[in-house]
Amino acid sequence: MTTRIPAWIKKVGLILIGFSALALVLGRTVDSKKWIRSQLAVPRGPGGWLFALTMPMFHKVLYSPAAEFLQLRPDDDLVEVACGSGVFLKEHAAHVKRIAGLDMSDIQVGLARRRLRHQISAGTAEIVRGDAVALPWEDNRFTAATCLGTLEFLSDPVAALREMKRVLQPGGRIVVTCGIDENDEDCVKETEWWGFPHPSEAESRKMVEDAGFSLVSITYLDDDYPARFIQGVKPE
Ligand SMILES: C[S@@+](CC[C@H](N)C(=O)[O-])C[C@H]1O[C@@H](n2cnc3c(N)ncnc32)[C@H](O)[C@@H]1O
Repeated sequence: MTTRIPAWIKKVGLILIGFSALALVLGRTVDSKKWIRSQLAVPRGPGGWLFALTMPMFHKVLYSPAAEFLQLRPDDDLVEVACGSGVFLKEHAAHVKRIAGLDMSDIQVGLARRRLRHQISAGTAEIVRGDAVALPWEDNRFTAATCLGTLEFLSDPVAALREMKRVLQPGGRIVVTCGIDENDEDCVKETEWWGFPHPSEAESRKMVEDAGFSLVSITYLDDDYPARFIQGVKPE
């Protein structure tokens, strides 16, 4: 006796076989970890959309602590370097006087501009495409600055921090994340498996001090993602 396989099962089976074959071919021809690292560094191309849209899900754990450490006030003029799709600016900083974001990825800039379109039309927000090491703003413009989940991926993080200091007013606050808690062995192992950079506490503190910030302090997130937050102040 023969059993008939329903047509929909055949279709689903064929799709699964097709995807598995594609994954096998890609797995052999592409260094997938390297590709993921490059997309996390700067989302580009069709795959970049996936990273740009999902990145805030992984980074949202950083946003509330960052806003808290920045002690944002209604009269603040805030800049976020490497702002991604603008979720932090929209959801945690919309109450300040003015917000500005900069990112190198066209995809991220497009998403952030769309997310913040009402504030942009009202003249209280601007999103620009650019490089963290050459910010397009004048000296002493902002009262607070941040950069989340990005600094360790930059080729010259101190140059980016110097730029953040240049555009901050004297007394302006900076809050950045850089690296993870080195005492969290599981997180260190996972980070190394992915090949992500993870500067030590001393190295990341030195970056912020070398850029010219004072009152530098370090706090760790007590979470699945034990990110290292670094706070500093531009000397008066
Ligand atoms: C890991 S994502 C973090 C994005 C965002 N901060 C968030 O929390 O979702 C890194 C971001 O840095 C941006 N980026 C990388 N290098 C940059 C550079 N040199 N200047 C400006 N943005 C840069 C990327 O385009 C990407 O949006």
